[in-house]
Amino acid sequence: MRMVDIIERKRDGHALTEEEIRFFVKGYSCGEIPDYQASALTMAIYFRGMNKEETAILTDAMMHSGETVDLSVIPGIKVDKHSTGGVGDKTSLVVGPLVAACGAKIAKMSGRGLGHTGGTLDKMESIPGMNVFVDKEDFIRQLNDIGIAIIGQTAKIDPADKKLYALRDVTATVESIPLIASSIMSKKLASGSDAILLDVKFGTGAFMKTLEDARKLARAMVEIGDSLGRDTRAVLTDMNQPLGKAVGNSLEVIEAINTLQGKGPRDLVDLAIDSGAIILEQAHLVQTYEEGCERIMKAIDDRSGFRKLVELVKAQGGDPSYIENPDKFEKAKYIIPVVSSRAGYVHRIDSLSIGLAAMKFGAGRATMDDVIDMSAGIYLEKKVGDKVESGDVLCYCHTNKTDIKDILKEVEEAFLVDEKKVVLEPIVYDYIHA
Ligand code: URA
Repeated sequence: MRMVDIIERKRDGHALTEEEIRFFVKGYSCGEIPDYQASALTMAIYFRGMNKEETAILTDAMMHSGETVDLSVIPGIKVDKHSTGGVGDKTSLVVGPLVAACGAKIAKMSGRGLGHTGGTLDKMESIPGMNVFVDKEDFIRQLNDIGIAIIGQTAKIDPADKKLYALRDVTATVESIPLIASSIMSKKLASGSDAILLDVKFGTGAFMKTLEDARKLARAMVEIGDSLGRDTRAVLTDMNQPLGKAVGNSLEVIEAINTLQGKGPRDLVDLAIDSGAIILEQAHLVQTYEEGCERIMKAIDDRSGFRKLVELVKAQGGDPSYIENPDKFEKAKYIIPVVSSRAGYVHRIDSLSIGLAAMKFGAGRATMDDVIDMSAGIYLEKKVGDKVESGDVLCYCHTNKTDIKDILKEVEEAFLVDEKKVVLEPIVYDYIHA
């Protein structure tokens, strides 16, 4: 088999065979196929697409390019949750403890954030002492003991994707639904869970800008999971404004703590209840979605979700006193208000602008080597739909940086205030199930 023939066939719009796809993934992973041929193929896939079968085979081949985690020694259904990334997305830190408090086993392998979307691992590391690099044996022991572990993916998982994703990043071939779907799903499937809930976000601050593209990506991933025997479901959620009020690592952890204590912002609470209920259904712990919602609300009311977060932090070496007393988190030196110059209702808070501004304040990375300032970020005092008077504070910018005039201007411009009242949209737009 020759790589040039595979490229030519995809270039001309043919479906690739299983043999061809496996030849490519194996050859590229071990360095026999050079970057220039892999980029030519990914560009051909970008233009010609892949059908369901090709996408499932590509996923399976990538998933088996490295180590896979076997969680079968843990009794019950193990569930993983994945978000395609957004601004202020701390949902996993809320939903994970809530479903674990209800008896689910939540085995989450997570990534770091790059650009304006923060990763769960970075948020967890804002808790002093927290260790996200747990070996396989400890991961399994922790899941058995407390029902939840949130850890970083090791380099041994899905090396084919690591190489291919890095190549796609510099060859303008990231934005292809079969390539994104197989990249995300191969990592999730290699992590060993029986069921996966995907939170596919759409909007200015998300990877997918439109609801339609998010729906296509969600369908592709649900189909892959289904064809490989895992109960995979997806929610399509709005990322046109940041999720919740806090953007930035320790600010988001504090918001997650508050949410688990019944003091969360409406959109985050709604998303946590909805996602949690679906996970409990996937774990066969409830019969209906409605029953799932009730169980999750109870785990907020009786603080069992909060206690589970304390257990999770303790189990991974973190200092639980920060969870019990969030005032202990170090604050940024400067906390600067941004005020509204007019009265009316908030119509828009552009997620992308807020995410980029938070990153420039120190909360995110522009390159993988950047060091994050855990205390930096933006706290929204107003959300879309809120009434404001001229002079009201729209948000507070937390930073240790000086010379930030231009960033503050960007934050101000992210808000659109208008006289007309706003009709609020739900956070969850749709639910995709095989
Ligand atoms: N996230 C991934 O893990 N892979 C992609 O291709 C895009 C986003």
